[in-house]
Amino acid sequence: MNARAVLATAPEIRANPLREESVTLKAADPCTFVVFGASGDLTHRKLIPALFRLSKQKLLHPQTAIVGFARREWTNEQFREEMKHAVESAGASPSEWERFAGALFYQSGVFEDHAAFRALGQLLSKVEEERGVPGNRIFHFATPPSEYATLVRNIGAAGLARRALRDDHAVPWSRVIIEKPFGRDLQSARELNALVHTVFAERQVYRIDHYLGKETVQNILVMRFSNGIFEPIWNRQYVDHVQITVAETIGVEERAGYYEQAGAMRDIVQNHLLQLLALVSMEPPAAFDDKAVRDEKVKVMRALRRIAGEDLSMNAVRGQYTRGFIEGTPVPGYREEPGVAADSRTDTYVALKLWVDNWRWEGIPFYVRTGKRLPKQSTEIAIQFRAAPHQLFSRDALAGLEPNALVLRIQPDEGISLRFGAKVPVQGIRIRAVNMDFDYGASFMVDAPDAYETLILDALRGDATLFTRHDEVDQQWAFVDPIIKGWASSDSAEGPALYEAGTWGPTEADALIERDGRKWRKA
Ligand code: NDP
Ligand code: BG6
Repeated sequence: MNARAVLATAPEIRANPLREESVTLKAADPCTFVVFGASGDLTHRKLIPALFRLSKQKLLHPQTAIVGFARREWTNEQFREEMKHAVESAGASPSEWERFAGALFYQSGVFEDHAAFRALGQLLSKVEEERGVPGNRIFHFATPPSEYATLVRNIGAAGLARRALRDDHAVPWSRVIIEKPFGRDLQSARELNALVHTVFAERQVYRIDHYLGKETVQNILVMRFSNGIFEPIWNRQYVDHVQITVAETIGVEERAGYYEQAGAMRDIVQNHLLQLLALVSMEPPAAFDDKAVRDEKVKVMRALRRIAGEDLSMNAVRGQYTRGFIEGTPVPGYREEPGVAADSRTDTYVALKLWVDNWRWEGIPFYVRTGKRLPKQSTEIAIQFRAAPHQLFSRDALAGLEPNALVLRIQPDEGISLRFGAKVPVQGIRIRAVNMDFDYGASFMVDAPDAYETLILDALRGDATLFTRHDEVDQQWAFVDPIIKGWASSDSAEGPALYEAGTWGPTEADALIERDGRKWRKA
């Protein structure tokens, strides 16, 4: 039985759901938003639609200019025409589009070419003068990660950015938004950080992890730290274990060139998954600001026990999908995907058993898994609680009881559910697990902003709370590096365990949790 008790929402929210949306945000300072990689997939699918929606909500200052830079030899008009397709999905009316299109400009060139950067500098000065932008600039690196170093060097050499001395908000300010992955291991991330810091001070650097911009991910902190009822039980005394799942039905798509180098460990675990883990396990920060929140995340990541040597085989499983079916449709195996080596050993699935070695979590395992071509798209965090210390009821009565669990559904079906035992309404005592559900859609009746919309607005406003700090990236790599190295050293003997597309990963991943007498949740 799965009794559903939709939580009531406060009456004033039900009466006027949109009131919730307008938390009286003022438009950000006028600036020039420079997109490197302006002809690429990320720009089309995420950045331009997000900027358009911000403009539509009047959160983008009307003087703001958006300058694209990429190799393709487009004119301003061609760039605008391309971007028109990109915002169609965001429902632009002709007048909204006209207003937005007037803010778009384009410079073509290759990133290695100093002359192209000088031309970019001239375009920026001209646009800023015309639109009255006081020299504030954001540089967004939407390019292959291999280009980041060249971009930093050439922005520096062309004098396009102004290094912040004390206050990042002093006008004119310069900021840089850098996409993931930031480096491919600890050493390369440190080298890149050092280079970035030759041009930008750390407080000008916004390393993006789009999971942090998701409403439901931000809600982890709100749920934990704005309510009094959860924190007292959020520890080793009450929690039996935690499970985090990031499951995708999609395969590698057109991204083999990148994914063959990354695998699930670098693509998801090093960033999105460790961020979810940090938010759910960190100590309460002293304030909701960039320093306090990120200090706590760094602390908990430092407490993650490293998995290396003999621990590797017991605590880490990697897998790779073979051909199978997703929702009844046949799909190829990973090694049959375009651009993937026929003998590829890239991981498309990872399951880990982790320990957070600190006062709160000592002895409590965190089981985490992520994979492509799994049966269902689902990202969730499940906190499973210990059983009641003493049972009054007979074994028969308890047959339908399952452990209490609080499940934070990040996507889809965003919400939170609490599972507990309830009496079945029949004569005598029979207990079954039921769920009490909070459902975002039903409770707030507004469309949540896209993660990129939230994060770009934060960067425009100079709030780095939801961005990854350099020492956080260090800790993420310091945790995943030994696992990747361990797997590489055993590569000749054993590659990733194979699993059929449309199944929940390799049997080795089941064994990882089942030898502790536990099971993966049916996500
Ligand atoms: P694409 O390959 O689609 O786009 C790359 C862009 O960079 C193109 O505009 C390309 O220009 C330009 N470019 C590359 N090299 C040069 C060069 N030497 N000189 C000038 N321009 C160059 O990549 P994506 O948009 O998919 O990804 C960009 C970044 O965003 C990556 O770091 C990725 O990891 C990250 N990311 C992407 C996501 C996505 O959904 N796509 C999601 C999360 C992160 P041209 O085409 O004109 O040659
Ligand atoms: C990206 C990864 O960072 O996140 C992709 O590179 C993955 O491989 C994507 O598919 C998942 O993001 P979302 O928002 O769809 O869960």
